[in-house]
Amino acid sequence: MFDSPVVRVRVPASTANLGPGFDTLGMALNLYAWIEMKQSDETRFHLYGDQLKGIPGDKFNLIYEVAQMVFNEAGVSVPELEVSMYSDIPLTRGLGSSASAIVGALAAANALIGSPLSDAKLFDMATVIEKHPDNVGASLYGGIITAVWDGVHAQCIRLDPGDHLEALVVIPGFELATSKARGVLPAEFSLQDAVYNISRSSLLVAALAVGNLEVIAEAMKDRIHQPYRAALVPGMAEILKEAPRHGALGAALSGAGPTLLALVDRREQRKAELERFLKETMQRESVPIRMMWLKPEAQGVKVYTDAESGRSFLDMIKGESVL
Ligand code: HSE
Repeated sequence: MFDSPVVRVRVPASTANLGPGFDTLGMALNLYAWIEMKQSDETRFHLYGDQLKGIPGDKFNLIYEVAQMVFNEAGVSVPELEVSMYSDIPLTRGLGSSASAIVGALAAANALIGSPLSDAKLFDMATVIEKHPDNVGASLYGGIITAVWDGVHAQCIRLDPGDHLEALVVIPGFELATSKARGVLPAEFSLQDAVYNISRSSLLVAALAVGNLEVIAEAMKDRIHQPYRAALVPGMAEILKEAPRHGALGAALSGAGPTLLALVDRREQRKAELERFLKETMQRESVPIRMMWLKPEAQGVKVYTDAESGRSFLDMIKGESVL
């Protein structure tokens, strides 16, 4: 029925919103998940790494469910799959782990049956599953994306992240469900707050497009979601306000949180000062954290063409993962 008996993909993490671009802006990051998929006589999962502990290893696994959506859409039947997965993307922390799983599963399943579905179709499907296009768009296309969704179709423009951006992420030692972080948001906003966000989100996209990093601090301000979510993440309000004074271009809650993200110019001299400020602020709030320097990832989901080169799944990802 189809040629490729084994498919492997690598899919990047992502940060959504970048402050004002709620459910609109996304940026891929150089932290990844990998999936191997093949047809099998019986469904089996091999889940590797600390990030996947507790994930179901049966047909209730999101990867399996999403793969079946691809097969249904393409009109083919592949009821049993053998799936291996390894991920460095922390779960439920605001770094797009569910979006990466969805995009990885869509891309792997599509490649397994000879890629009948276009990227645009995969983007539509991913957005319907995730309910917003920001993280899935970034994981699918890489770079920085500005996206819209009408409930059925998603569209986006991808910007190249350029050479100068880095991100220092502060990952708190607790999980925050997206549903909880969305539950605290009001249903309506004042015209003033709408204008505040539209103007800054537009400025941010223009600044990133032309590489004008000077306006980023102002352009990353937001009144639509972060003020309401600040109560869920101790230290967040101070970090968003003060990080630009310690060497950040600007700072935001990463997606629905609880991770905080400072955008930094790679040439910045005060990186150690910024690290110290972030660490001490979270320490004062008694929140254990992990900090990581990440880079924007220009490449979206990558389908390996040499999946049958003889290397095992885990051998293939060594060197790129934290394995
Ligand atoms: N834009 C979404 C939110 C991202 O902020 O709720 C969540 O993954």
